[in-house]
Amino acid sequence: MKVLLLNGSPRKNGCTYTALCEVADALKKEGIESEIFQAGNPSKEAVKEAAEKLKQSDGLIVGSPVYWASPTGKIIEFMDMLCSMAGNELLYKPAAAVASARRAGTTATLDVLMKYFLYHQMPVVSSNYWNMVHGNTPEEVRQDKEGLQIMQILGKNMAWMLKSLEAGRKAGISLPEQQEKVKTNFIR
Ligand SMILES: Cc1cc2nc3c(=O)[nH]c(=O)nc-3n(C[C@H](O)[C@H](O)[C@H](O)COP(=O)(O)O)c2cc1C
Repeated sequence: MKVLLLNGSPRKNGCTYTALCEVADALKKEGIESEIFQAGNPSKEAVKEAAEKLKQSDGLIVGSPVYWASPTGKIIEFMDMLCSMAGNELLYKPAAAVASARRAGTTATLDVLMKYFLYHQMPVVSSNYWNMVHGNTPEEVRQDKEGLQIMQILGKNMAWMLKSLEAGRKAGISLPEQQEKVKTNFIR
């Protein structure tokens, strides 16, 4: 089993990456593979590459630094494109969002990222607090012991969810039947 972790920061090895590494470490301890994908550049090629990787993955984690109390514009664009291009690959896969900030805007950031999961019927994986770390540098994030524990628990919980779903599949529980979408547009 594999989890794809998207790093929505333009800083490849910054704070978000440090948080995602902690989640990856917890997944590894549970025997789950993972890959951190640099998603700070929403080019068509990069999104296509991520879509291919998503196809081979059983779970998804989307990380973003907080910019102006929101996710970065780049990860929003990346997720918009990913959903248009490969929305079907998101369906029913367990997912979580992670935010990194100097100080504020984390829960608003998580709310925005969560919207992609809720639309695609993805079971949302949680931790023992909202999934955030604090710091401006990886060194500062490593001092945020509570944040690191949140990431470790998130990884453990993701592993538990994946193993439970796998056990369900083996026991004959199939995915819910897809329904034709009813679209009602409000014009006035
Ligand atoms: C353009 C910009 C806007 C930012 N806005 C916020 C903010 O609203 N709240 C906050 O706490 N930190 C803010 N920060 C700080 C980053 O969220 C913080 O340093 C984060 O941990 C960086 O993660 P990264 O190293 O993965 O990019 C901002 C940083 C930048 C560059």
